[in-house]
Amino acid sequence: MMMSTSAPTPVLQVEPVLQVEPVLQVENVTVRFGGDTAVKNVSLTINQGELVGFIGPNGAGKTTLMRVITGIVKPQEGRVLLEGKDLAKSTINERVSAGMALAQQIVQPLHALSMLDNVALACGGAKTASVINAMFHTNREQERDKARDLLERVGLGEVVDALPATLPLGYLKRLEVARAMALEPKLLLLDEPLAGLNQAEAKGLADLILTLNKGGQTVLLIEHNLREVLRICPTLYVQDNGLPLAFGDADTVMKNPEVRSAYLGGQA
Ligand SMILES: Nc1ncnc2c1ncn2[C@@H]1O[C@H](COP(=O)(O)OP(=O)(O)OP(=O)(O)O)[C@@H](O)[C@H]1O
Ligand SMILES: [Mg+2]
Repeated sequence: MMMSTSAPTPVLQVEPVLQVEPVLQVENVTVRFGGDTAVKNVSLTINQGELVGFIGPNGAGKTTLMRVITGIVKPQEGRVLLEGKDLAKSTINERVSAGMALAQQIVQPLHALSMLDNVALACGGAKTASVINAMFHTNREQERDKARDLLERVGLGEVVDALPATLPLGYLKRLEVARAMALEPKLLLLDEPLAGLNQAEAKGLADLILTLNKGGQTVLLIEHNLREVLRICPTLYVQDNGLPLAFGDADTVMKNPEVRSAYLGGQA
């Protein structure tokens, strides 16, 4: 029997590397409407857990880029990846199933349904990715429980049985967020959630977005309310006239002379 006299082989200690996972990658996206270019060669990466404020003047192409991400608009060039998967061939519903949820600027609740059922329907949609299928989905009580929790999380616990038409806009904006969150998205896309709200309502909804983010939700937030964006977003992306102008830490971006002159007219 041979006895080894050599020292035991040291076990290689692999230090755990802190991985930043990209949730969304937009690569060289260009969108043209006729002769007009609405988005010009935009690239953007959003990592897990980030809250990115997306700002820029009217007509900058913000909503167009959001629509490219959700699949409503097909770009002429470039591609979008969710968790590394190219979405070029994915339909809007497939993107929802893959983990994208959009709360639109114009609130569109189903007026015949209570606040609770509006969210419960979206909870069903998380499984079926189709509102029609969700309507025939069976596990209603479970979905209503989840909807009640979500409505409480967004501060609407008192109005679960109300019809949307009886409530002010501020409530409906929160409902939009609850419906998007019902999909348990990997990426929450918000297009001007604060538009039309008074200062107190805007602050309250911005606080809610921040709370969701602190709970781990990755968020891309289009918003004109710069005061609230600067209060809650650590990272900013600025687009002007379709062109990417600046991307990065909010303080640095807001000191960028190009951002100041183009976006703020040199006033800031
Ligand atoms: N479906 C469309 N067909 C033709 N042109 C479009 C279409 N959608 C947007 N545009 C044009 O693309 C440009 C960018 O519009 P977009 O709505 O993306 O800007 P935005 O940054 O969201 O502006 P806002 O802050 O006013 O919402 C505008 O010139 C707009 O007129
Ligand atoms: Mg827009």
